Amino acid sequence: MSRPLVDPFGRVVRDLRISVTDRCNFRCTYCMPEEGMSWLPREELLTFEEIGRVARVCVERLGVESIRLTGGEPTVRAHLPVLVEMLAGLKVPSTGEPVDLAMTTNGATLRLLAGDLRAAGLRRVNISCDSLRPERFAEVTRRDQLPRVLDGIDAALEAGMDPVKLNVVTVRGLNDDEAVDFATFGREKGVQPRFIEFMPLDASGGWTMDKVVPAEETVAAIDAVYPLEPVAHGPEPASRYRYLDGRGEIGVIPSVTKPFCGDCDRIRLTAEGQLRTCLFAVDEHDLREVLRRGGSDDDLIGAIRAAVGTKWAGHRIGQVTFVRPRRSMSQIGG
Ligand code: GTP
Ligand code: 5AD
Ligand code: SF4
Repeated sequence: MSRPLVDPFGRVVRDLRISVTDRCNFRCTYCMPEEGMSWLPREELLTFEEIGRVARVCVERLGVESIRLTGGEPTVRAHLPVLVEMLAGLKVPSTGEPVDLAMTTNGATLRLLAGDLRAAGLRRVNISCDSLRPERFAEVTRRDQLPRVLDGIDAALEAGMDPVKLNVVTVRGLNDDEAVDFATFGREKGVQPRFIEFMPLDASGGWTMDKVVPAEETVAAIDAVYPLEPVAHGPEPASRYRYLDGRGEIGVIPSVTKPFCGDCDRIRLTAEGQLRTCLFAVDEHDLREVLRRGGSDDDLIGAIRAAVGTKWAGHRIGQVTFVRPRRSMSQIGG
C-alpha cells in the first residue's frame, strides 16, 4: 500500500461512501422536493467498472477499510448485486480481510432484493424509517408504504443481514414522540434504531434550529423506560448505548448538537464521480474526468490525495458562517 490518506488536520481517511444513483422511489420531505427533481442522464453516472476501479484503488492503495453504498436510493440502480459482488471481493491489504461493505436504503425493495444482495456479499444494511405510524410515514416520505418497508426490514433479517440498523431522522413536532416506540420495536425485532438529528440538507430549505431534537433528549426518553448505558465507539458518527437488560442497543447521531467532525474518517463519491471530502462540502473534485481521459491508477491516487488535502475541519451548522451545499441529501448520499 502507498501512504495512508491523511487530511490537513491529521485525520486518516478509512471510509468511502459511494452514491450509485441520485434517483429515489420516495420523496422524503427533509431530503427531496415533491416534484421537479431532474435526474442525471445515464451517461453522466459512473459505470460499475468505474466505481469498482475507484473503490479498488482506495482499498488496495490508500487504506480505505469500509465502503457504504448510498443513493438517492441505491436499490433503484439496476443490477446492484453485480456491483456488490465486485466490491465485496476487495481485501484490505493490512489484514487480508474483506472490506466492510454496507448499504443505506429506504427498505422498500428489500423483499425482492435482500437475498440476492446477501448472496453477492453484502453483510449489513441500515434502513431509513422515520415513523411507525402509517399516516405519518406517508406524510414524511410522500409514499404510503410503511407496510412495504416493515416487510423489507423482515426480509433483511431473514436474508441474514447483521446488524440491521434503522435510521430515524427526528424532527420536532413530526416524530419526536416516537423514540420509545422505536426502542420497543427494535428490542422485539432485534434491530438497532439510530436517531439522527435533522440537518440543513433538505431540498426545500425548511430546516431551522428549533426543528432539531437534541440526541440527549432522545436518549433520556428511552432511558426512562428501558435503562441504558453508553458503549465506547470509534470514529463513526453514531454514539451507542446498550440496554442494561441486554436486549440490544440504540444509537444517536448528534450532528448538530455535538458535531463529530474532529474524528471524521470519510470521503464520498457522488453518482457522477465527484469526490466530496465532507457532507457539507461546497467544492467537489472530478474523478470521472480522470477515469474517462484514460488516467492511470497513480493519476487517480494523485487526484484523490489532492482532494483530501483540501478537507476542512468541519461543518458550522448553526453558526453565521455556515454555507448550505448546493446539493440536497439525495444527491450527496447521506
Ligand atoms: P455505520 O455506523 O457504519 O452503520 O454507518 P453510518 O451511520 O455511518 O451510515 P448511515 O448511512 O446509516 O448514516 C447515518 C446518518 O449519519 C446519515 O443519515 C447522516 O445523517 C449521518 N452522517 C453520515 N455521515 C456523516 C458525516 O460525514 N457527517 C455528518 N454530519 N453526518 C453524517
Ligand atoms: N438530516 C439528517 N439526515 C438526513 N437523511 C436524509 N436527509 C437528512 C437530513 N436533512 C438521512 C436519511 C437516511 C440517510 C441516508 O440520510 O434518513 O437514513
Ligand atoms: Fe430517498 Fe433516502 Fe432521500 Fe428519503 S432520505 S428521499 S429515501 S434518498
